[in-house]
Formats: sequence, C-alpha cells, structure tokens
Amino acid sequence: MQLEQTSRNVFDTLPNEGHTFRNREVLSSTYIPEDFPHRNTEIDQVAHILRPALEGSRPSNILIYGQTGTGKTAVAQHIRRQLEAKVTLQGSAIHTAYINCKQVNTPYGILANIGQTYTTDWDDSIPHTGWRLEQVYTALCRKADESGAIAIVVLDEVDALVKKSGDEVLYHLTGINSDLSAARMSLIGISNDTKFTTFLDPRVKSRLGEESLVFPPYNAVQLRDILHQRAEQAFYEGALDPQVISLCASRAAQEHGDARKALDLLRIATEMAERDSAQRVTIDYVSRAENMMEQDQVRKVVLQLPLQHKAVLAAILANESQSRLDRQTTGDVYDTYGRVCLRFELDALTQRRIGDIISELDMQGLISARVVSLGRHGRTRLISTAIAFSELQPIITEDSFMSEALDLATEGGLVRTQLRLM
Ligand SMILES: Nc1ncnc2c1ncn2[C@@H]1O[C@H](COP(=O)(O)OP(=O)(O)O)[C@@H](O)[C@H]1O
Ligand SMILES: [Mg+2]
Repeated sequence: MQLEQTSRNVFDTLPNEGHTFRNREVLSSTYIPEDFPHRNTEIDQVAHILRPALEGSRPSNILIYGQTGTGKTAVAQHIRRQLEAKVTLQGSAIHTAYINCKQVNTPYGILANIGQTYTTDWDDSIPHTGWRLEQVYTALCRKADESGAIAIVVLDEVDALVKKSGDEVLYHLTGINSDLSAARMSLIGISNDTKFTTFLDPRVKSRLGEESLVFPPYNAVQLRDILHQRAEQAFYEGALDPQVISLCASRAAQEHGDARKALDLLRIATEMAERDSAQRVTIDYVSRAENMMEQDQVRKVVLQLPLQHKAVLAAILANESQSRLDRQTTGDVYDTYGRVCLRFELDALTQRRIGDIISELDMQGLISARVVSLGRHGRTRLISTAIAFSELQPIITEDSFMSEALDLATEGGLVRTQLRLM
C-alpha cells in the first residue's frame, strides 16, 4: 500500500536539531580515541613492557590499578589496537584477547573466551558443560601451541573475577607458560580495587604482578584537556558556551577525577539542549544533567534494594511523612516496620538486624543515622532521610511493594496518632 501524500512522518515534525553534534559517537562510552591527553607516560610504560613480544619473547605480566574513569579500559584497548596494527605490518606472531571479567566471571568462561580468540571451531570441539577445568585448560594449551604465537590477554575488571570465582583460573593462567611448548602468554590484569591482590594466593600475586602501574585520578585541568579534545571532534563550532567544559571538568574532578562522569555530563547536557532546540549548550544544562545523573543513581540504589531493606526504608519514610517523627529512633522504625511485615506476611527480623539494615541504608546515602548521647540513659541513633521526599516519591511509585508499604504504614501512623490524642 502506498502512503498517502498527506500523511506526516513523525521524524519530520521533530524540532530542527543537529546544530550541535558534528559526531555524536565521539562522546559515547565505547568510543576509543586516538590520543590520550595525560596518559602518555602510562601508555609508554605499558608499550615498553610489551615490546619484547614484537621481537618474539614473552613480555612480563602487568597489573594496572586505578579508580573508575581513569582510562584503564580505553588505554588497554588502544594499546591492543596498536599492537595489532604492528602485527599486520610486520607479520609477527602475536595474538591478543580482551575479556571483561565482570561479564565473563567463571573459570570456564575465561578459558573458553581465550580459546575462542585462537580458533573459530572452539565452540564445536569443546563442550559447554561436563568438562573439568583441567580438560578445558589442556585444550586451550593445545590451541595456543598450534598457533605458536605470543598471546597478550587483557583481563579487565579482574577483581570481579576473583570476588566471584576465587583465583583458581588465575593460578592456571599465570603458570601456563610452563605447560606450553611453542606458544607463550602474557596477562594484563586491570583492577579498580587496589586491595584485591590480598585475596590472591601469594604465588598468583607475584606472578600476575611482575610489573604493576597505577593510573592516578585526573584533576580538573586534566579533565578539561580530555573534554576539549573530544569536543573538537564532537561539536560544531560555537555549540558550547565557553564555561561548559570547565564546569563538567570541575564537577567530575570533585568525584575522584572520573573522566567517564565528565564525558557523560557533557553528553547528557548536550542532549537536553538539543531536545529543547536550544541554540547552544549552556551551564544551566550541565546542572540539569548533573541532577538527572544523581537522580538516576538514587533510583538504581532504591529499586535494587532487597525486600527487607525496602520495608525498613518505607517505615522510615512513613514515620517522617507523618511529621510526627522528624527524628526517629531504631525503636520507632521497628514499630512501623513490624506493621508492614504483618500486612505483607514478611518474616519480621530482630530489632538488632534492623539496626544493621539502618546502617547499610545510611552507608548508601539514603538515610542519615546519627548517634547521640542521652547522658546517663546511654546512646541512641536518630534517623532521618537524607534525600528529599519529593525526590524519593516518584521512585517509590515505580515499586509496587514500596508504595503499598508506605501507604499502609502511613495510614497506621495516623490511626495511632489519633488514638494517642483521645
Ligand atoms: N586520557 C584520556 N584521554 C581521552 N579520553 C579518556 C582519557 N581517560 C579516559 N578517557 C575516556 O573516559 C572514559 C572512561 O575511561 P575508561 O577507560 O572506561 O575508565 P576505566 O576503565 O579506568 O574505568 C572513556 O570514554 C575513555 O575513552
Ligand atoms: Mg574499565
């Protein structure tokens, strides 16, 4: 059927955008730039350690530490690309693999993923289940030796692997060279957590950390350079107000120098400006983007709480919204929580356990629980929400348990207050 000429396409009726982004992709989280301002020293260090691979010998294993957003993943991917470009040029026998251990976090998965980079028929020849780890390991050694190459294997977020599955697979991988005849393997482990090696077997720890380096957090000036470099490619001239980049940089610098946060702020601010068909991105949009990101963060935390935590949070909110108790004790929370449990047939935990949950909610920044002294009556905690009710309410309405619990606890509260008044 032919479309009628008069029918309007919804895309044609959108307001005219496109004066801002020259290349949107440049600000996306998966984009890997060609240059890395303020990371040249680190890149040179890693390249220096890996250079022996181009001459046919095995480089040392490397451990890279640094907080989130310090460029670890992007730099590792960049170096991997550079290495591959060199291989194409020189025809060296180098093989590279990249695994994100947050996504692949079982010993089997790690070995299979490395195996798949050697051969396209790995999946056909190795069963997905039923094999012991040693068998999969032996198959991997065979494939590696068939290739005869030096493999550089990046294990990104390796701390997640150790937390989930222990260090068994790292024990195998860091010892693999004594089981290989023609091939060699080097590992690059990347971790956000500097303390994760304390959970490792000492042998694994020393083998994996033959070389180690730290990516320090960026300061505001460095973040500004990083944003400038991206902005040049991403935007048309004049699309940004002059202070926009500095503001994004200084906000992200306050949060442990996170380049991802800086880039996200800039991207979201720009998208908001586009939606408004604004002529340029102003600092006002940066503030709005920051609010939205914070709100998203709170939403994620609240919606992912376990049920008991939700019940406790609902109890605290109910007490507070009655304005009977702008500062409540653990006992007050426990009373209201008890009613919620009764209504939802939830097993009521002990008051002591509720005390623990209150501490956890405090650590997550949802509530504040302050210890105060009652003189000779000992000490108690005074509890209040740390986020405005108006901000929490829309999130709670998304969660049927929390909104029902809140309604119920609020009604109960009213009844009780009225009884008290009589
Ligand atoms: N020095 C830098 N130059 C350019 N972009 C950078 C730099 N450092 C980080 N980035 C960018 O910041 C974002 C976060 O970096 P990423 O490598 O994912 O951090 P990490 O892995 O340390 O958490 C990515 O989009 C990355 O391209
Ligand atoms: Mg990373």
